[in-house]
Amino acid sequence: MVPRNARIQLFPYICQHDPRWFPEPEVFDPARFLPEHQSTLPQFAYIPFDGGPRVCIGNTFAIMEMTLVAATLLQNLKVGLAVGQGTAKPVALMSLPPKGGVRLWWTRRNVQDAALNLDTRLPRGQRSDVGRQMTDCNAQ
Ligand code: HEM
Repeated sequence: MVPRNARIQLFPYICQHDPRWFPEPEVFDPARFLPEHQSTLPQFAYIPFDGGPRVCIGNTFAIMEMTLVAATLLQNLKVGLAVGQGTAKPVALMSLPPKGGVRLWWTRRNVQDAALNLDTRLPRGQRSDVGRQMTDCNAQ
C-alpha cells in the first residue's frame, strides 16, 4: 500500500534500463524503436515524454523535429567520434547531459555521389543534374 500523501518519483532512466523490456540496455540498437517492438512494451515502460494527463504536449513535434534535423544533416555530412573521445558519462541533472560534452568530427559527404544514388530509379539517360547543382551550390 502507498501511504496517504506519499511522494512518488519515477525514474525513466531506470524503467528504460529494465532488461525485461530492453535487453542489453546499454547497447545501441535502433531496432528497439521499430513499431513491432514498441507494441510489445507494457504501457509506460518507455516514457521519455512522461505519460498520463501531464504528458509532454511537444512529444510529436519534438520527434518530427529531431528526425528532420538528423535526416538533413546526415544527407550532407558524415559524423564520428573525435580521436580520444571516450564513452560519454551522464551527469544526473534534470536530463542526463554528457559530462564535458561529446567531441565529434563532421565531414562533407561526396554530394555528387549522394545525389546520383538518390537518382538511380531513373534510367541512366534521364537522370537529373541535381548532383551538379548541389556541387555548384557548395562551390559558392
Ligand atoms: C526531446 C524533447 C522533449 C522532451 C524529452 C520532453 C519531455 C517532457 C516531459 C518528460 C514532460 C513531463 C514533465 C512532468 O512530468 O511534469 C514534458 C512536459 C511538457 N512539455 Fe516537453 N519535452 C520535449 C519537447 C517539448 C517541446 C518541443 C515542447 C513544445 C513545443 C514541449 C512542451 C511541453 C509542455 C507544455 C509540457 C507540460 C505539459 C503539462 O504539464 O500539461 N516539450 N516534456
